[in-house]
Amino acid sequence: MQQQERCKKCNIKCGLIKVSPDILRALEDGFEKLEKSDSNSLLKKYLTRQIFDQLKDKKTSFGSSLLDCVQSGFMNYDSGVGIYAADPEAYVVFGRLFNPIIQDYHVGFTPEDKHPKLDWGDFSSLENLDPNGEHVISTRVRCGRSLEGYPFNPCLTENHYREIEAKLIPIFREMPGELNGEYKSLLTMPKEEQNQLIDDHYLFKEGDRFLQAANACRYWPVGRGIFFNKTKTFLIWVNEEDHLRIISMQPGGDLPSVYKRMVDGVHVLEQHLTFSRSPRFGFLTFCPSNLGTTIRASVHIKVPKLSSNREKLESLAEKYHLQVRGTRGEHTESEGGVYDISNKRRLGLTESDAIREMQDGILEIIRIEQSLG
Ligand code: ADP
Ligand code: ARG
Repeated sequence: MQQQERCKKCNIKCGLIKVSPDILRALEDGFEKLEKSDSNSLLKKYLTRQIFDQLKDKKTSFGSSLLDCVQSGFMNYDSGVGIYAADPEAYVVFGRLFNPIIQDYHVGFTPEDKHPKLDWGDFSSLENLDPNGEHVISTRVRCGRSLEGYPFNPCLTENHYREIEAKLIPIFREMPGELNGEYKSLLTMPKEEQNQLIDDHYLFKEGDRFLQAANACRYWPVGRGIFFNKTKTFLIWVNEEDHLRIISMQPGGDLPSVYKRMVDGVHVLEQHLTFSRSPRFGFLTFCPSNLGTTIRASVHIKVPKLSSNREKLESLAEKYHLQVRGTRGEHTESEGGVYDISNKRRLGLTESDAIREMQDGILEIIRIEQSLG
Protein backbone atom coordinates (compact mmCIF):
# COMPACT_ATOMS: atom_id res chain seq x y z
CA MET A 1 0.00 0.00 0.00
CA GLN A 2 1.21 3.49 -0.81
CA GLN A 3 2.38 5.38 2.25
CA GLN A 4 -0.06 8.08 3.33
CA GLU A 5 2.05 11.19 3.76
CA ARG A 6 0.63 14.48 4.91
CA CYS A 7 -0.43 16.42 1.82
CA LYS A 8 0.86 20.02 1.68
CA LYS A 9 -2.11 21.08 -0.45
CA CYS A 10 -4.65 20.46 2.31
CA ASN A 11 -2.37 19.43 5.21
CA ILE A 12 -4.24 16.20 5.96
CA LYS A 13 -3.65 12.57 5.09
CA CYS A 14 -6.06 12.94 2.21
CA GLY A 15 -4.92 10.31 -0.25
CA LEU A 16 -3.92 12.97 -2.77
CA ILE A 17 -0.48 11.49 -2.53
CA LYS A 18 -1.75 8.65 -4.74
CA VAL A 19 -1.91 9.37 -8.47
CA SER A 20 -5.53 9.10 -9.64
CA PRO A 21 -6.61 6.89 -12.57
CA ASP A 22 -7.54 10.06 -14.50
CA ILE A 23 -4.02 11.45 -14.18
CA LEU A 24 -2.50 8.11 -15.16
CA ARG A 25 -4.74 7.98 -18.25
CA ALA A 26 -3.80 11.54 -19.23
CA LEU A 27 -0.13 10.70 -18.74
CA GLU A 28 -0.33 7.55 -20.91
CA ASP A 29 -2.26 9.39 -23.60
CA GLY A 30 0.11 12.39 -23.60
CA PHE A 31 3.18 10.17 -23.63
CA GLU A 32 1.98 8.14 -26.63
CA LYS A 33 1.09 11.29 -28.59
CA LEU A 34 4.42 12.94 -27.79
CA GLU A 35 6.29 9.83 -28.93
CA LYS A 36 4.51 9.97 -32.30
CA SER A 37 4.95 13.75 -32.66
CA ASP A 38 7.72 15.60 -34.49
CA SER A 39 8.65 17.50 -31.30
CA ASN A 40 12.32 18.41 -30.85
CA SER A 41 11.88 19.18 -27.15
CA LEU A 42 14.27 17.95 -24.49
CA LEU A 43 11.20 16.37 -22.87
CA LYS A 44 10.66 14.12 -25.87
CA LYS A 45 14.37 13.35 -26.10
CA TYR A 46 14.65 12.11 -22.51
CA LEU A 47 11.20 10.80 -21.57
CA THR A 48 11.83 7.16 -22.49
CA ARG A 49 9.23 4.46 -21.79
CA GLN A 50 11.44 3.18 -19.00
CA ILE A 51 11.74 6.55 -17.24
CA PHE A 52 8.05 7.25 -17.82
CA ASP A 53 7.07 3.95 -16.14
CA GLN A 54 9.37 4.66 -13.20
CA LEU A 55 7.86 8.10 -12.61
CA LYS A 56 4.23 8.01 -13.70
CA ASP A 57 2.74 7.09 -10.31
CA LYS A 58 4.97 9.27 -8.15
CA LYS A 59 3.87 12.42 -6.35
CA THR A 60 5.68 15.07 -4.36
CA SER A 61 4.46 15.93 -0.88
CA PHE A 62 2.92 19.09 -2.42
CA GLY A 63 0.68 16.69 -4.36
CA SER A 64 2.32 17.32 -7.76
CA SER A 65 2.46 14.48 -10.28
CA LEU A 66 4.58 13.92 -13.36
CA LEU A 67 1.66 15.32 -15.38
CA ASP A 68 1.95 18.67 -13.57
CA CYS A 69 5.55 18.89 -14.78
CA VAL A 70 5.21 17.66 -18.36
CA GLN A 71 1.81 18.89 -19.48
CA SER A 72 3.24 22.01 -21.13
CA GLY A 73 5.51 19.87 -23.30
CA PHE A 74 2.64 17.43 -23.97
CA MET A 75 0.48 20.29 -25.24
CA ASN A 76 3.16 22.31 -27.05
CA TYR A 77 5.25 20.15 -29.36
CA ASP A 78 7.27 23.20 -30.40
CA SER A 79 8.67 23.49 -26.85
CA GLY A 80 12.43 23.68 -26.57
CA VAL A 81 12.50 22.27 -23.06
CA GLY A 82 8.93 21.11 -22.39
CA ILE A 83 9.06 20.59 -18.63
CA TYR A 84 8.62 22.72 -15.48
CA ALA A 85 9.05 21.77 -11.83
CA ALA A 86 5.57 22.06 -10.35
CA ASP A 87 7.19 22.53 -6.95
CA PRO A 88 10.77 22.51 -5.60
CA GLU A 89 10.59 18.80 -4.66
CA ALA A 90 9.79 17.83 -8.24
CA TYR A 91 13.46 18.28 -9.20
CA VAL A 92 14.25 15.35 -6.89
CA VAL A 93 11.14 13.13 -7.12
CA PHE A 94 11.23 13.29 -10.95
CA GLY A 95 15.02 13.59 -11.02
CA ARG A 96 15.44 10.71 -13.47
CA LEU A 97 13.79 12.92 -16.06
CA PHE A 98 14.97 16.36 -14.92
CA ASN A 99 18.63 15.33 -14.58
CA PRO A 100 19.35 14.49 -18.24
CA ILE A 101 17.33 17.50 -19.42
CA ILE A 102 19.32 19.77 -17.09
CA GLN A 103 22.59 18.16 -18.20
CA ASP A 104 21.71 18.75 -21.85
CA TYR A 105 20.43 22.35 -21.46
CA HIS A 106 23.22 23.51 -19.13
CA VAL A 107 25.90 21.75 -21.17
CA GLY A 108 27.32 18.97 -19.04
CA PHE A 109 25.97 19.62 -15.52
CA THR A 110 25.90 15.98 -14.40
CA PRO A 111 23.87 14.48 -11.52
CA GLU A 112 27.12 14.47 -9.49
CA ASP A 113 27.77 18.18 -10.06
CA LYS A 114 27.00 20.96 -7.60
CA HIS A 115 26.32 24.55 -8.52
CA PRO A 116 29.17 26.84 -7.34
CA LYS A 117 28.88 29.48 -4.64
CA LEU A 118 27.42 32.84 -5.64
CA ASP A 119 30.03 35.15 -7.18
CA TRP A 120 28.95 38.39 -8.84
CA GLY A 121 32.56 39.06 -9.94
CA ASP A 122 34.31 42.33 -10.59
CA PHE A 123 32.16 44.80 -12.58
CA SER A 124 35.16 46.89 -13.57
CA SER A 125 36.61 43.97 -15.53
CA LEU A 126 33.60 44.04 -17.88
CA GLU A 127 33.45 46.28 -20.93
CA ASN A 128 31.04 48.20 -23.13
CA LEU A 129 30.00 45.72 -25.85
CA ASP A 130 29.70 48.31 -28.60
CA PRO A 131 31.29 51.66 -27.69
CA ASN A 132 30.61 53.11 -31.17
CA GLY A 133 26.93 52.20 -31.04
CA GLU A 134 26.99 50.36 -34.36
CA HIS A 135 25.28 47.08 -33.48
CA VAL A 136 23.90 46.90 -29.95
CA ILE A 137 20.55 48.63 -29.52
CA SER A 138 20.10 47.76 -25.84
CA THR A 139 21.43 45.55 -23.08
CA ARG A 140 19.39 43.71 -20.44
CA VAL A 141 20.35 41.45 -17.54
CA ARG A 142 17.77 39.59 -15.48
CA CYS A 143 17.69 37.01 -12.75
CA GLY A 144 14.84 35.06 -11.19
CA ARG A 145 14.13 34.43 -7.53
CA SER A 146 11.65 32.24 -5.63
CA LEU A 147 10.61 33.05 -2.10
CA GLU A 148 11.48 30.42 0.45
CA GLY A 149 8.37 28.81 1.93
CA TYR A 150 6.28 29.10 -1.23
CA PRO A 151 5.86 26.47 -3.96
CA PHE A 152 5.89 27.29 -7.68
CA ASN A 153 2.99 28.49 -9.84
CA PRO A 154 0.94 25.29 -10.23
CA CYS A 155 0.75 24.85 -6.44
CA LEU A 156 0.22 28.51 -5.49
CA THR A 157 -3.22 29.41 -4.18
CA GLU A 158 -4.92 32.71 -4.99
CA ASN A 159 -4.04 33.75 -1.45
CA HIS A 160 -0.36 32.91 -1.99
CA TYR A 161 -0.30 35.23 -5.01
CA ARG A 162 -1.81 38.04 -2.95
CA GLU A 163 0.52 37.34 -0.01
CA ILE A 164 3.68 37.41 -2.13
CA GLU A 165 2.66 40.70 -3.72
CA ALA A 166 1.74 42.17 -0.33
CA LYS A 167 5.15 41.22 1.09
CA LEU A 168 6.88 43.00 -1.79
CA ILE A 169 4.97 46.27 -1.97
CA PRO A 170 6.44 47.80 1.26
CA ILE A 171 9.94 46.77 0.13
CA PHE A 172 9.39 48.43 -3.26
CA ARG A 173 8.39 51.68 -1.51
CA GLU A 174 11.83 51.81 0.12
CA MET A 175 14.01 51.12 -2.92
CA PRO A 176 16.94 53.55 -2.60
CA GLY A 177 18.41 56.12 -5.00
CA GLU A 178 18.37 55.26 -8.69
CA LEU A 179 16.29 52.13 -7.97
CA ASN A 180 13.42 54.10 -6.45
CA GLY A 181 10.13 53.91 -8.32
CA GLU A 182 6.58 52.64 -8.29
CA TYR A 183 4.73 49.33 -8.34
CA LYS A 184 1.82 48.78 -10.68
CA SER A 185 -0.54 45.89 -10.22
CA LEU A 186 -1.94 44.32 -13.39
CA LEU A 187 -5.33 44.20 -11.66
CA THR A 188 -5.67 47.96 -11.95
CA MET A 189 -3.50 48.71 -14.97
CA PRO A 190 -5.48 49.79 -18.07
CA LYS A 191 -5.07 47.40 -21.01
CA GLU A 192 -3.55 50.12 -23.24
CA GLU A 193 -0.83 50.83 -20.68
CA GLN A 194 -0.16 47.12 -20.34
CA ASN A 195 0.16 46.68 -24.12
CA GLN A 196 2.44 49.71 -24.40
CA LEU A 197 4.74 48.35 -21.67
CA ILE A 198 4.84 44.97 -23.45
CA ASP A 199 5.59 46.65 -26.82
CA ASP A 200 8.39 48.65 -25.19
CA HIS A 201 9.93 45.40 -23.85
CA TYR A 202 9.39 46.25 -20.18
CA LEU A 203 6.52 43.95 -19.24
CA PHE A 204 5.89 40.23 -19.62
CA LYS A 205 3.21 39.23 -22.10
CA GLU A 206 -0.12 37.80 -21.10
CA GLY A 207 -1.34 34.35 -22.14
CA ASP A 208 1.97 32.60 -22.84
CA ARG A 209 0.68 29.20 -24.00
CA PHE A 210 3.69 27.34 -22.55
CA LEU A 211 3.02 28.79 -19.09
CA GLN A 212 -0.74 28.41 -19.42
CA ALA A 213 -0.45 24.71 -20.20
CA ALA A 214 1.83 24.35 -17.17
CA ASN A 215 -0.96 25.74 -14.95
CA ALA A 216 1.14 28.80 -14.24
CA CYS A 217 -1.45 31.48 -15.09
CA ARG A 218 -4.24 30.66 -12.65
CA TYR A 219 -6.06 33.58 -11.00
CA TRP A 220 -4.41 35.98 -13.52
CA PRO A 221 -3.99 38.94 -12.98
CA VAL A 222 -4.23 38.49 -9.19
CA GLY A 223 -0.84 39.13 -7.57
CA ARG A 224 0.84 39.99 -10.87
CA GLY A 225 2.50 43.30 -11.48
CA ILE A 226 5.60 45.29 -12.29
CA PHE A 227 7.83 47.65 -10.35
CA PHE A 228 9.91 50.16 -12.26
CA ASN A 229 12.25 53.00 -11.40
CA LYS A 230 11.72 56.46 -12.87
CA THR A 231 13.88 55.88 -15.96
CA LYS A 232 12.60 52.31 -16.50
CA THR A 233 16.15 50.97 -16.29
CA PHE A 234 15.35 48.80 -13.26
CA LEU A 235 12.28 46.57 -13.21
CA ILE A 236 10.87 43.78 -11.11
CA TRP A 237 8.25 41.39 -12.46
CA VAL A 238 6.00 39.92 -9.79
CA ASN A 239 4.48 36.43 -10.06
CA GLU A 240 4.91 35.82 -13.75
CA GLU A 241 6.92 32.64 -14.39
CA ASP A 242 8.85 33.03 -11.14
CA HIS A 243 7.87 34.84 -7.95
CA LEU A 244 10.37 37.55 -8.86
CA ARG A 245 12.28 38.54 -11.96
CA ILE A 246 14.79 41.30 -11.30
CA ILE A 247 15.73 43.18 -14.46
CA SER A 248 18.11 45.94 -15.45
CA MET A 249 18.13 47.34 -18.98
CA GLN A 250 19.13 50.42 -20.95
CA PRO A 251 19.89 51.54 -24.50
CA GLY A 252 23.40 50.81 -25.82
CA GLY A 253 26.05 48.30 -24.83
CA ASP A 254 27.12 49.41 -21.36
CA LEU A 255 27.04 45.92 -19.83
CA PRO A 256 28.96 46.81 -16.62
CA SER A 257 26.42 49.50 -15.64
CA VAL A 258 23.42 47.32 -16.52
CA TYR A 259 24.77 44.34 -14.59
CA LYS A 260 25.79 46.41 -11.57
CA ARG A 261 22.32 47.93 -11.33
CA MET A 262 20.69 44.50 -11.27
CA VAL A 263 23.09 43.29 -8.59
CA ASP A 264 22.41 46.43 -6.51
CA GLY A 265 18.70 45.68 -6.74
CA VAL A 266 19.20 42.06 -5.67
CA HIS A 267 21.23 43.22 -2.67
CA VAL A 268 18.40 45.49 -1.52
CA LEU A 269 15.80 42.71 -1.85
CA GLU A 270 18.05 40.25 0.01
CA GLN A 271 17.93 42.49 3.06
CA HIS A 272 14.20 41.79 3.35
CA LEU A 273 13.57 38.40 1.75
CA THR A 274 14.94 34.85 1.84
CA PHE A 275 15.24 33.20 -1.54
CA SER A 276 14.98 29.44 -2.21
CA ARG A 277 18.40 28.01 -2.90
CA SER A 278 19.40 24.37 -3.17
CA PRO A 279 22.93 23.10 -2.48
CA ARG A 280 22.90 21.28 -5.80
CA PHE A 281 20.89 23.58 -8.10
CA GLY A 282 21.65 27.05 -6.72
CA PHE A 283 18.68 29.41 -6.91
CA LEU A 284 15.49 27.45 -7.58
CA THR A 285 13.19 28.42 -10.42
CA PHE A 286 10.04 27.04 -12.02
CA CYS A 287 11.81 26.13 -15.28
CA PRO A 288 14.94 23.98 -15.25
CA SER A 289 16.48 26.25 -17.89
CA ASN A 290 16.75 29.02 -15.30
CA LEU A 291 18.27 27.15 -12.35
CA GLY A 292 21.58 28.12 -10.77
CA THR A 293 22.55 31.71 -11.40
CA THR A 294 19.15 32.33 -13.11
CA ILE A 295 20.99 34.97 -15.14
CA ARG A 296 20.04 35.82 -18.68
CA ALA A 297 22.16 38.66 -20.04
CA SER A 298 21.03 39.74 -23.48
CA VAL A 299 21.56 42.33 -26.15
CA HIS A 300 19.18 43.51 -28.80
CA ILE A 301 21.58 43.49 -31.70
CA LYS A 302 21.72 44.11 -35.44
CA VAL A 303 24.25 42.00 -37.30
CA PRO A 304 22.81 42.11 -40.84
CA LYS A 305 25.62 40.18 -42.56
CA LEU A 306 25.64 37.31 -40.11
CA SER A 307 21.89 37.14 -39.78
CA SER A 308 21.36 36.98 -43.53
CA ASN A 309 22.26 33.36 -42.91
CA ARG A 310 20.26 32.38 -39.80
CA GLU A 311 21.90 28.94 -39.71
CA LYS A 312 25.35 30.51 -39.54
CA LEU A 313 24.21 32.84 -36.75
CA GLU A 314 22.73 29.90 -34.82
CA SER A 315 25.87 27.80 -35.19
CA LEU A 316 28.09 30.68 -34.04
CA ALA A 317 25.77 31.22 -31.09
CA GLU A 318 26.02 27.54 -30.16
CA LYS A 319 29.81 27.71 -30.33
CA TYR A 320 29.83 30.50 -27.73
CA HIS A 321 27.02 28.96 -25.61
CA LEU A 322 24.66 31.74 -26.65
CA GLN A 323 20.95 31.62 -27.49
CA VAL A 324 19.23 33.57 -30.27
CA ARG A 325 15.68 34.84 -29.70
CA GLY A 326 13.38 37.12 -31.72
CA THR A 327 12.80 40.81 -31.04
CA ARG A 328 9.89 40.33 -28.66
CA GLY A 329 11.64 37.59 -26.74
CA GLU A 330 11.29 33.87 -26.55
CA HIS A 331 9.20 32.12 -29.21
CA THR A 332 9.03 35.27 -31.38
CA GLU A 333 10.56 36.21 -34.73
CA SER A 334 13.11 38.89 -35.49
CA GLU A 335 11.62 42.23 -36.53
CA GLY A 336 13.66 44.69 -38.62
CA GLY A 337 16.77 42.52 -38.28
CA VAL A 338 16.88 42.87 -34.48
CA TYR A 339 17.85 39.73 -32.56
CA ASP A 340 17.96 39.03 -28.84
CA ILE A 341 21.18 37.16 -28.10
CA SER A 342 21.99 35.99 -24.57
CA ASN A 343 23.97 33.48 -22.55
CA LYS A 344 22.21 30.11 -22.66
CA ARG A 345 23.47 28.20 -19.65
CA ARG A 346 22.93 29.44 -16.14
CA LEU A 347 23.72 26.43 -13.95
CA GLY A 348 27.13 25.05 -13.00
CA LEU A 349 28.95 28.35 -13.47
CA THR A 350 29.10 31.52 -11.39
CA GLU A 351 27.19 34.73 -12.06
CA SER A 352 30.46 36.31 -13.08
CA ASP A 353 31.13 33.45 -15.55
CA ALA A 354 27.63 33.68 -17.03
CA ILE A 355 28.00 37.42 -17.70
CA ARG A 356 31.48 36.93 -19.12
CA GLU A 357 30.23 34.13 -21.37
CA MET A 358 27.69 36.53 -22.85
CA GLN A 359 30.21 39.38 -23.11
CA ASP A 360 32.89 37.31 -24.83
CA GLY A 361 30.41 35.71 -27.24
CA ILE A 362 28.82 39.02 -28.24
CA LEU A 363 32.22 40.69 -28.75
CA GLU A 364 33.20 37.80 -30.99
CA ILE A 365 29.96 37.97 -32.98
CA ILE A 366 30.47 41.71 -33.55
CA ARG A 367 34.09 41.09 -34.56
CA ILE A 368 33.04 38.46 -37.11
CA GLU A 369 30.22 40.69 -38.44
CA GLN A 370 32.72 43.51 -38.98
CA SER A 371 35.20 41.24 -40.72
CA LEU A 372 32.66 40.18 -43.34
CA GLY A 373 33.07 42.09 -46.59
P1 ADP B 1 13.24 36.63 -20.12
O1 ADP B 1 13.12 35.17 -20.01
O2 ADP B 1 14.65 37.07 -19.91
O3 ADP B 1 12.28 37.44 -19.33
P2 ADP B 1 11.84 36.99 -22.70
O4 ADP B 1 12.38 36.32 -23.92
O5 ADP B 1 10.56 36.51 -22.11
O6 ADP B 1 13.01 36.98 -21.65
O7 ADP B 1 11.73 38.54 -22.99
C1 ADP B 1 11.13 39.44 -22.13
C2 ADP B 1 11.14 40.83 -22.71
O8 ADP B 1 12.43 41.39 -22.62
C3 ADP B 1 10.77 40.89 -24.19
O9 ADP B 1 9.96 42.01 -24.44
C4 ADP B 1 12.10 41.08 -24.86
O10 ADP B 1 12.02 41.73 -26.11
C5 ADP B 1 12.80 41.96 -23.85
N1 ADP B 1 14.25 41.97 -24.00
C6 ADP B 1 15.11 40.94 -23.86
N2 ADP B 1 16.37 41.32 -24.06
C7 ADP B 1 16.33 42.66 -24.31
C8 ADP B 1 17.30 43.65 -24.60
N3 ADP B 1 18.61 43.35 -24.62
N4 ADP B 1 16.87 44.91 -24.84
C9 ADP B 1 15.56 45.22 -24.80
N5 ADP B 1 14.60 44.34 -24.52
C10 ADP B 1 14.98 43.07 -24.28
N1 ARG C 1 8.57 25.75 -21.82
C1 ARG C 1 9.08 26.58 -22.86
C2 ARG C 1 9.78 25.72 -23.89
O1 ARG C 1 10.07 24.60 -23.59
C3 ARG C 1 10.05 27.62 -22.33
C4 ARG C 1 11.37 27.09 -21.86
C5 ARG C 1 12.42 28.06 -21.41
N2 ARG C 1 11.95 29.38 -21.21
C6 ARG C 1 11.37 29.84 -20.09
N3 ARG C 1 10.85 31.02 -20.12
N4 ARG C 1 11.35 29.13 -19.01
O2 ARG C 1 10.04 26.17 -24.99
